[in-house]
Amino acid sequence: MLVQSPIMISDTQPTQGRLICVSNRLPVTIRISPDQPDTVIPSAGGLVTALAPVLRARKGHWIGWAGNVAADADRVSAALVEFSKDAGFDLTQVILPKDDVEGFYLGYTNRIIWPLFHDLQSRCNFDPSYWEASQRVETTFATVLSNLVNSEDLIWVHDYHLLGLGAKLQAKGVLNRCAFFLHIPFPAPDIFLKLPWRNEVLSELLAYDLIGFQTERDRRNFLTCLDEVLHKKSTINGSLATVPLVSVQHNEKTVKVGYYPISIDYNEFSELAALPEVKQRAIEVGEAMKVAHLVISVDRLDYTKGIPHRIRAVARMLELFPELIEQIAFIQIVVPSREDVTEYRDLRAEIEQLVTKTNGAYAKPGWTPVHHFFRSITREELVAYYAAAEIALVTPLKDGMNLVAKEFCASRPSSDGVLVLSEFAGAASEFFEPALLVNPYDIDGVARALADAVRMPPEERGRRMGLLQSQIRKYDVHHWANAFLLDAGWKGLSTAQQSNGSTIWERLRRALSVFDA
Ligand code: ADP
Ligand code: F6P
Repeated sequence: MLVQSPIMISDTQPTQGRLICVSNRLPVTIRISPDQPDTVIPSAGGLVTALAPVLRARKGHWIGWAGNVAADADRVSAALVEFSKDAGFDLTQVILPKDDVEGFYLGYTNRIIWPLFHDLQSRCNFDPSYWEASQRVETTFATVLSNLVNSEDLIWVHDYHLLGLGAKLQAKGVLNRCAFFLHIPFPAPDIFLKLPWRNEVLSELLAYDLIGFQTERDRRNFLTCLDEVLHKKSTINGSLATVPLVSVQHNEKTVKVGYYPISIDYNEFSELAALPEVKQRAIEVGEAMKVAHLVISVDRLDYTKGIPHRIRAVARMLELFPELIEQIAFIQIVVPSREDVTEYRDLRAEIEQLVTKTNGAYAKPGWTPVHHFFRSITREELVAYYAAAEIALVTPLKDGMNLVAKEFCASRPSSDGVLVLSEFAGAASEFFEPALLVNPYDIDGVARALADAVRMPPEERGRRMGLLQSQIRKYDVHHWANAFLLDAGWKGLSTAQQSNGSTIWERLRRALSVFDA
């Protein structure tokens, strides 16, 4: 068994127990090569964007994989010690042998759970060896945790890679409070039932004390699957849509099930947008594009993000509304992701081909309709692009939440700008009124929505963006964490954090009173 001892544990731990967060990937990936210095690369994606400020503010401890194989463990540990000095939280790596990285990460997570939970069952490969690898890896994570936790610590497990970790911890006799949050959607029964290990996955999830989903729909799907597969009913007092927390009885234990839409650190983005150098950069970007209307999309490279559909919609818009030729430009920023997975390499080639095709058909001297960047950019640069653009085109085919939608609104220098949002992003459950909702599969519909966004009167834009900004500011990532940790029974919350977290009930009560009226 390859187990690494903790690299750093603060000696000023709160008496009420630490916050121990576990995710498959740590917020940094350490790249080791034989004859080069080690490089520390920020991990891409929404989970890291959301969790880093939460752990920093609560001096938590983050357990996960640093993107390496066991042979490099010592050098990775040393690099993590350095990183943790500035990070504001402690880190412990889980070391995985190469075979498990392949079977678990490339197989189980990327070829089973990720596509299935995003309704793309035709992309799944239900190879039993992938499932076996997932069982080994969850047990390795449980071993690392069992050597590290104190009895009062809260263990908070994140995302679809580690659905069964709670059960593996129980099997090792770890009796800590243990909560789970799913960052991606939970599929409808028709889709979930295709999973050969559906009984095991559902039963293991019930080992957690609290299970959190992004939206009410995800929770409803989960509860329906529980009923259909394990014949377990939840106890609901009132309508499921408006009850924030329901309970399920399992092995003489009560499991709570809630939904908590994740968010961003609003102030971090709005403060960056107010920096003179970021404002200046936004002006430079706007001037360089030389168009009246700038549209932006920002995504991790992923087939769930609907990038090819979106480029087709931009081309269709130019076809349907030729008056926008030379008036509008589209910037698509893509951060490389999962480069070892074949489908992701193919997707990159498809995107590049579509960009070339669209530009080939429409470009004119001094004007290019589609600008495609395939690289990670700094947070400052990202905020400058958001601020420079007038419209954000956020059209995933399916997405747990989509933080880019929220980042765009928080980075606006004023209450101007339009959010065009997929109805299949979790964010649509919060923004169905102020955003322009689209079906990403409906290419003509997205093309028309873009033209509508361009033509939207300034007062209407201001009203909608004002609503988006005030909602995201109020229900930011700290509110999300406080609401979840309150329900998870973590004793480390300050009184202010408790009252901040409890505003979720206020929101639901307000929703109820709207229904009552
Ligand atoms: P997911 O969780 O699937 O990765 P989200 O939209 O929730 O999707 O989160 C994506 C995160 O990745 C956002 O915080 C976004 O700012 C960040 N990101 C996306 N593209 C880039 C890029 N090119 N450079 C830097 N960060 C990026
Ligand atoms: O929820 C999206 C997610 O799977 C996160 O866990 C992670 O932030 C991101 O995608 C990147 O994926 P990976 O860890 O496979 O590189």
